[in-house]
Amino acid sequence: MWLGIDIGTGGTRALLIDERGGVRAGYTAPHEEMRMERPLWAEQRPENWWDAAVAAIRGVLAAAGVSGDQIKGIGLSGQMHGLVILDSADAVIRPSLIWCDQRSQSQVDAVNAKLGRATVLQYIANPVLTGFTLPKLLWVRDNEPRNFERVRKMLLPKDYVRFRLTGEFASEVSDASGTAVFDVVNRRWSYEMMDGLGLDRSILPACYESVEVSGKITAAVAELTGLRAGTPVVGGGGDQAASAVGNGIVEEGIVSCTLGTSGVVFAHMEKVAYDPAGRVHTFCHAVPGKWHVMGVTQGAGLSLQWFRNRLAPGTSYDALTAEAAQSPAGAQGLFWLPYLMGERTPHLDATARGGWIGLTASHTRADLIRAVIEGVSYSQRDCLDIIESLGVAINSVRASGGGAQSAFWRQLLAGILNQRVVTLQTQEGSAYGAALLALAGTGEYGSVPEVCRAAIRETDSVSAAEADRAFYEKGHRVYQALYPALKPIYEQIAAL
Ligand code: XUL
Repeated sequence: MWLGIDIGTGGTRALLIDERGGVRAGYTAPHEEMRMERPLWAEQRPENWWDAAVAAIRGVLAAAGVSGDQIKGIGLSGQMHGLVILDSADAVIRPSLIWCDQRSQSQVDAVNAKLGRATVLQYIANPVLTGFTLPKLLWVRDNEPRNFERVRKMLLPKDYVRFRLTGEFASEVSDASGTAVFDVVNRRWSYEMMDGLGLDRSILPACYESVEVSGKITAAVAELTGLRAGTPVVGGGGDQAASAVGNGIVEEGIVSCTLGTSGVVFAHMEKVAYDPAGRVHTFCHAVPGKWHVMGVTQGAGLSLQWFRNRLAPGTSYDALTAEAAQSPAGAQGLFWLPYLMGERTPHLDATARGGWIGLTASHTRADLIRAVIEGVSYSQRDCLDIIESLGVAINSVRASGGGAQSAFWRQLLAGILNQRVVTLQTQEGSAYGAALLALAGTGEYGSVPEVCRAAIRETDSVSAAEADRAFYEKGHRVYQALYPALKPIYEQIAAL
């Protein structure tokens, strides 16, 4: 059997699969809620991820009734872009600034001023964004010099868990791509970026392809978790690349849409290509020697989660989507802007803010919810359009993540994306992809696509109703006109 461990935002999930990719058991250990001390700040404690990983490993072994001896390989995946810094005693220096933390605009500006935007694009195939790891490290340098002086290693969230599991400082190409110090075209750390910014290269971990063995379970961890000492741990992937493997997005033509806390449209690329405006990310794929392009809506599932937590506490997501279904397409002229944590694709704007536009006294709560779901889906359409403009073929969209559990949302998505929306038999996302990468790296298969062809099956498929398609084309144009109109206001809000 093979084990996938995904260090998400809300929790850590461990998943066991057999040699054909069949799921044997899963177990999720929740994380502490992220700390948001100020607007746009988001932190979590790496030690909490480790505790959750241990609980999830123990939990999945118990749920499956198997012993660690039966596990042949382990794959890791995790929330990307987070900054974990360790001191010379390998202790965590401060809580991690995680993927959705947006505090580092002035550090992004400083990098661009020092190196030049065009040079940065040449070094890393992407612009530096506030969400990426590098500006978070520079924020610590600029604001917490005492902490910065102590930094001996910089790791990504799942790679901290790898360090605890194996004692190795290691990452892999897909997650490293989101640090802004990785040469995506050549699949190696960008010493040009590190040197150009006066950063010490030695803080970077080793970097592997996703299926390569990066370390082995230590004796102490074996004791703690029930795993066998010496079990190999492969590179694994950033949660998006891993989720794409779990969805079989490892060849051209099929695109995925993952509606988690963030929402991601993801496509495989045989050859590397990037958007000159940097609105979508071009990163290394978890398939050796391949790349991917993805567009990210920062506040996808987060929009609905925010609605539920703040305005409908205790209501289930099923109840919320059932209520939304009572509102007609277009929510009676109501639009939601999902910019609760700024926005990446297509605006790359940390100052963007969320909100409903078009409220009247006759709107109901059902309209509010429907507008939220539509607004998130319009944002995903923005992502899809840019990816298509890079020449990527799109025949269907495989939907996954919490939002895709809802048949209502999938039908609405088909209308807004104007694509056939397909669901898969196994909807385990990143943890499943991580387990498949372990299977590809330590099992009998020859390649990641071969594993995916053996393991992944489509089940359900919905197409857009003609009337919805036509309506949402018009709706999308209105949605697209809202951000440019509001941009000057966002600037004023930020300057207040
Ligand atoms: C990807 C991204 C998110 C996080 C959290 O670029 O920021 O997918 O990895 O899930």
